[in-house]
Amino acid sequence: DWTSDSFIETTIAELREKLGDDKVVLGLSGGVDSSVAAVLLHQAIGKNLHCIFVDNGLLRKDEYQSVLDSYQHMGLNIKGIDAKQRFYDALAGISDPEKKRKAIGRVFIEVFDDAAHEVQDVKWLGQGTIYPDVIESLSVKGPSATIKSHHNVGGLPDFMKLKVVEPLNTLFKDEVRRVGKALNIDANILGRHPFPGPGLAIRILGDVTPEKVAILQEADAIYINNLRASGLYDKVWQAGAIYLPVQSVGVMGDERTYENVVCLRAVESLDGMTADWCHLPYDVLAKISNEIINNVKGINRVVYDISSKPPATIEWE
Ligand code: XMP
Repeated sequence: DWTSDSFIETTIAELREKLGDDKVVLGLSGGVDSSVAAVLLHQAIGKNLHCIFVDNGLLRKDEYQSVLDSYQHMGLNIKGIDAKQRFYDALAGISDPEKKRKAIGRVFIEVFDDAAHEVQDVKWLGQGTIYPDVIESLSVKGPSATIKSHHNVGGLPDFMKLKVVEPLNTLFKDEVRRVGKALNIDANILGRHPFPGPGLAIRILGDVTPEKVAILQEADAIYINNLRASGLYDKVWQAGAIYLPVQSVGVMGDERTYENVVCLRAVESLDGMTADWCHLPYDVLAKISNEIINNVKGINRVVYDISSKPPATIEWE
């Protein structure tokens, strides 16, 4: 019978045996999987675990600082790297979703590699890969592998020459959460909605600019804060706002405006493979819409996505 306590005990013993005095470098994303993997490794090898957290400029509003703070609070040996400008430069003028993903993946590897080189004599790359990722990366016809290139798995560039350690690669998501809870990881991190590696870049349709990111961060923060305040956040599997490259006419006082549209998306799902749109209460939607339009400069219209997956995907890109 599987219990999180026995998993933790066995895994820590195995990690100690396998890693000895070796150093491990691990990229944290703020998500559940990499956080749990980091805490397990930290309990096994302490300061020999070197965590790297990259600000790609595509995270949610204030996410970088608050996640960095909670990791530091957890005692992890972590280095934060502000690489916003490198990502914005690489994304300039690119509209195609797959090209955005490739640009982001490439810059991430460069930034991560630079940071990893600063760790003397590092031997291992730690990853938060979980069992469904392993299966997906093995299957030729995995829908997301063919439709969208996820770059979380098998992302070991040749030049890093590191051995890979993946303490969670036999676990399903709910087991990872149980392990995380047993390890006393902040509920804020464990209960976090899934968030794509390319971040807000694939929620800005068309080309990405720092200005659009700032607008979307504001709208998204209003949306997510209202979901939390109304007790809906934990009932929704994933939610986020999307910046549409569409302008429409509005009125503000006695002036005509011509500004962009933000779309709100919220879905229920078990594993992201299929999803239903959430029937959020009208009064909550109304409040969010008013708050966004009244406070976010550049947005004069808010719409709600009522498409399920399939045939729509969760993300718009
Ligand atoms: P879709 O849009 O394919 O999304 O229905 C399914 C789940 O995968 C996430 N997603 C990604 N995650 N890199 C990631 O790490 C990506 O490129 C990517 N694309 C989609 C999406 O947020 C949802 O949870």
